[in-house]
Amino acid sequence: MKIMTGNSNLPLARAISAYLEVPLTNVSVRRFADEEVFVEIHENVRGEDVFVVQSTSYPANDNLLELLICIDALRRASAKRITAVVPYFGYARQDRKPGPRTPISAKLVSNLITTAGADRVLAVDLHAGQIQGFFDIPTDNLFAAPVMAADIQTRYGSQELMVVSPDVGGVVRARSLAKRLNNAPLAIVDKRRDRPGQSEVMNIIGDVKGRMCILIDDIIDSGGTLCNAAQALLDAGAAGVSAYITHGVLSGGAVARVAGSALKELVITDTIMATEATASCDRIRVLTIAPLIGEAVRRIADESSVSSLFD
Ligand code: R5P
Repeated sequence: MKIMTGNSNLPLARAISAYLEVPLTNVSVRRFADEEVFVEIHENVRGEDVFVVQSTSYPANDNLLELLICIDALRRASAKRITAVVPYFGYARQDRKPGPRTPISAKLVSNLITTAGADRVLAVDLHAGQIQGFFDIPTDNLFAAPVMAADIQTRYGSQELMVVSPDVGGVVRARSLAKRLNNAPLAIVDKRRDRPGQSEVMNIIGDVKGRMCILIDDIIDSGGTLCNAAQALLDAGAAGVSAYITHGVLSGGAVARVAGSALKELVITDTIMATEATASCDRIRVLTIAPLIGEAVRRIADESSVSSLFD
């Protein structure tokens, strides 16, 4: 087995390689003067089972190109099997046509990865499970929930918990986390805008009074969804609100928004490499999912069950 990486998340790739006790493959992934990506693999990979770790996070297009070109280099170097390990799958939110004459970019990106030569894909908390079906190659979708549940038990286990989905679309994810927390009760933030131009009203479905609320979502981007939900929960009488989010996209002024919000803390995973602003924000904590990905990689290489990781 070989582990190779692009430049999107070196700390995570190093941690996966340390978990597996397999050194990172010697490769240069660099830019020409005009910013074209160039990849050169400095060791033999012929006949190898290769895992390429690369999140298609910011800058999404550059990181995607690095992934595609790494896969192409491996294919042309006769690797036996290539698995694209994409801890954060950028473009996943463009998984359907929101209006006429719009693209389904998640499908296009899936096609690109397959066409480049990937034999398998390994991702974490895909925005929608159906994205697995965008690939006609085996695709494993790992869940960060076990890692989050363990942390929540340690930090908040002694309190009356309530798991909260920040929107109606996230209920399945929230329910699955609640199950891992001894069937904690569930609440939903229902955002409504009765008429265009009117400001959004947040209704809380469920009685959160006196409860420590755990908001769960797959992505925090601008932070708007989460910070508004946290305030609405406190207004409804919650004892406190923390959030557990798999992918810390945190673009624009998101870190400042979180720092000034009603959230007790925001806990993200390391699917996306933390920026300096994120790392130095004392309201944000990062959990590593390197052992989870490392174990899934080991099981794929050994051809043993990946789903049993979540039993
Ligand atoms: C949306 O469907 C996602 O699950 C997240 O709720 C969304 O991407 C968060 O975006 P923002 O942080 O910009 O509100």
